[in-house]
This record gives sequence, C-alpha cells and structure tokens, in this order.
Amino acid sequence: MSTTTEGLEDVVAANSRICDIDGKLGKLTYFGVDVHDLAKYSSFEETAYLLWHGQLPTQGQLEELKAQLNASRSLPKRFIDLLWLLPPKSSPMEVLRTSISALAAFDAESSGDAESNLGRAIRLTAAMPTIVASWENIRNGREPLAPLADKSHATNFLYMLTGKMPDDYTAHVLDVALILHADHELNASTFAARVAAGTLANMYAAVTAAISALSGPLHGGANEQVMRMLLRIGDVGGAEAYIQDALARKERIMGFGHRVYRTEDPRATHLRAMSKELGERAGDTRWYEMSRIIEEYIKQHKGLNANVDFYSASVYYTMGMPVDLDTPIFACSRISGWTAHVLEQYANNRLIRPRAEYVGPKVTPYVPIEQRG
Ligand code: CMC
Repeated sequence: MSTTTEGLEDVVAANSRICDIDGKLGKLTYFGVDVHDLAKYSSFEETAYLLWHGQLPTQGQLEELKAQLNASRSLPKRFIDLLWLLPPKSSPMEVLRTSISALAAFDAESSGDAESNLGRAIRLTAAMPTIVASWENIRNGREPLAPLADKSHATNFLYMLTGKMPDDYTAHVLDVALILHADHELNASTFAARVAAGTLANMYAAVTAAISALSGPLHGGANEQVMRMLLRIGDVGGAEAYIQDALARKERIMGFGHRVYRTEDPRATHLRAMSKELGERAGDTRWYEMSRIIEEYIKQHKGLNANVDFYSASVYYTMGMPVDLDTPIFACSRISGWTAHVLEQYANNRLIRPRAEYVGPKVTPYVPIEQRG
C-alpha cells in the first residue's frame, strides 16, 4: 500500500527554530516573536537580524547591521553591464534569478564558514532591491540609480525604483510588507533552498533554487496574477460576476487558499488594512473595494481565505509599482528568511534525499530496437 503524501502535505521535513505557523489559529512567529508585533513595532532590518541571529538586536547591533546593508547595496559595474545585455522584455523574476546566479562569480571570498555565510546573507539581502530597481531602470533605457547612504532598506528600494524620495507612509507600507513576507517556515521556495544547501551547494545556488520555486503562480507568482485579474475586471461593479464565472469554470482564484492556514492568514490582515488606507490616501479605493467583494464571495462560496498574495497586489499597485515587480518584491523580503534557513541547514546539515513510491511498470525485459514496433 502506498505511503505517499502527495505534495508532502503536513509532512515534517526538518527541525527549525526560525518560524512557527499555527494554521488553525492563524498565528505566525519568527523566533517566537509574533508577526503582528513585528508589523506594528519593528523594521525590516530588525526583522532580518532576528531571522539571522535568533534574537532582536540591541540598538548598537541594529546600527551595525544597517551600516553593513548600506555598504553592500551597490553592484559592481561589470554586473550592471551584464544586466544591459539582457533583452528588455525579460521577466524581472528571470532577471533576478539570473542575477543571483551571476553574483556568485563576483564573490571574492572563498570561505564557507558560518561567519562568511552570514556576510553573504547580508550582502544578498542588501543587493536584491538594487538589482530589481536597476532592472526597472535598464529595461526602460535609463541608467540605474545609486543607493542613498543613510536611508532605510524600504526607502532606498523605492528611491532607486522611481528616482523620487517616497513619502513616509509609502515607505512604512513597504517596510511592513517586507516584514510580513520575510519568512514562512518550509514553504516551497525555502524548502528548495534547504534542499540545495543540504548538498553543501553554496548560498547563491540555494537562493537561485529558491527564486525559481517562488516564481510559480501557486507560490509567490500569485501576487502578480491577482493584480492582472483585478485589472481585467477593471471596475468594482464587475467583480462579483467575474468571480462567479471564474468559479463556474473551475478556475483557481489567485491569492486564495493555503496549504497550512485554515483561518485568516495573519499577514493578509495587515495587507488588507494597508490596501484600504493607501487607496484612501490616493483617492482611488477601486482596487481595495474590488478585492473586498472578491474576498467575501470566495469566503462564502468556497470557504477559502485570502492569503498574503491577495492584498499585496493592490498595495503594490496603489504604490505605483509595475505589476511584474510584485513577485520580485516578495523575493526582496524572503531573501532574509531563505538565507536564515540556509544558515540553519549548514549548521546542522544532513543531505535531504527522500524516496519516491515506485508506481511504474513491472520489471520488463530489454527489447532490441529492431524488434520494437
Ligand atoms: N481557488 C479556487 N479553488 C481553490 C483555491 C483557489 N485559489 N485554492 C484551493 N482551492 C480548492 C481546490 O480546488 C480544492 O478543491 P477540491 O477539493 O474540490 O478539488 C481544495 O480547495 C483544496 O485545494 P488544494 O489545491 O488541494 O490545496 P493545496 O494545499 O494543494 O494548495 C494552494 C494550496 C495555495 C496552492 C492553493 O490554494 C492555490 O492554488 N491557491 C491559488 C494560488 C495562490 O494564491 N498561491 C499563493 C499561496 S500563499 C503564499 C505563497 O506561497 O506565495
């Protein structure tokens, strides 16, 4: 009899101290700290420190991390030259994946000890928004902007993308979104990173694997698809009929359902509120209102809750982000969690190598090619 658990649902594949999810209660903690508290009181920099070190930083430790991030935001000129070679129509997730793979070649350090890998985690986290923002400029024929020395991760990201200093609220919203996406236990991309790290492949290889897994629409790629759906619907009045038809056609509605949560995704709670407030501040609540109608309809007719990707779509769109940057923004946050998991995997490594239940043909004799037909 088969013992296979399709999709590894509820299979516990690692011991980890980093992130805990209670899917029934809708609770999410990073090293025991409630994500609601982090969203209210913390910053992305502080959250990344927590994920890498297992505790919140002192003021001095936080300042040191900010200085390290600021020192690592710029990209080598040869690397930027490489981005100019890519076709402008390339998907930003493909560019990001290619970029992280290429960055390995620019790493001057050869050591794979824990300290060097922590340095790589910081450098990768610092570099990712610069890569995404540089690509946004390059694909539009503009020179990439240099990061600002004394600004936060979120402010720098927005500045490098647009060339303008963001207002405080917009920078705060991105900062909270980065906190909310920073880690989520053994999701598909983190698992992919740990599988690669488990072979003792380097951190760039593990993160490249993670970006590949994140890009799919059943995982991080869902946020872009949510926004494309909202744009297709176009106006609040059309939302209910659109979803009704889509469900009748047995379509999967992006941004709903979750493998672990059986109740409200705690990240969606914050993103919903920010979607509303951003819309009100921008004088255009259309995307939020449409989202609310869809959410209510799906809850009532399918019993499914919105996940992290649903309201992040309207949040990023209202902030003025190009739709195809939604998933790269997710990656710019999750890099902190991926690297924390890679560090944890290296620290207590055992090759990850499960088995497959064989369901193919019985042993069969080899037939020479001239006798096949
Ligand atoms: N729309 C319509 N029906 C759905 C959806 C959805 N979004 N999600 C689940 N269902 C139905 C599914 O059809 C199935 O029904 P039935 O038992 O009648 O066949 C039932 O719910 C269980 O679904 P499942 O596919 O077995 O659940 P899963 O745990 O394998 O999949 C999921 C989880 C997230 C892949 C799935 O809910 C989904 O495809 N959601 C849409 C994509 C999405 O939003 N992904 C982001 C996930 S959360 C954050 C992240 O990872 O980025």
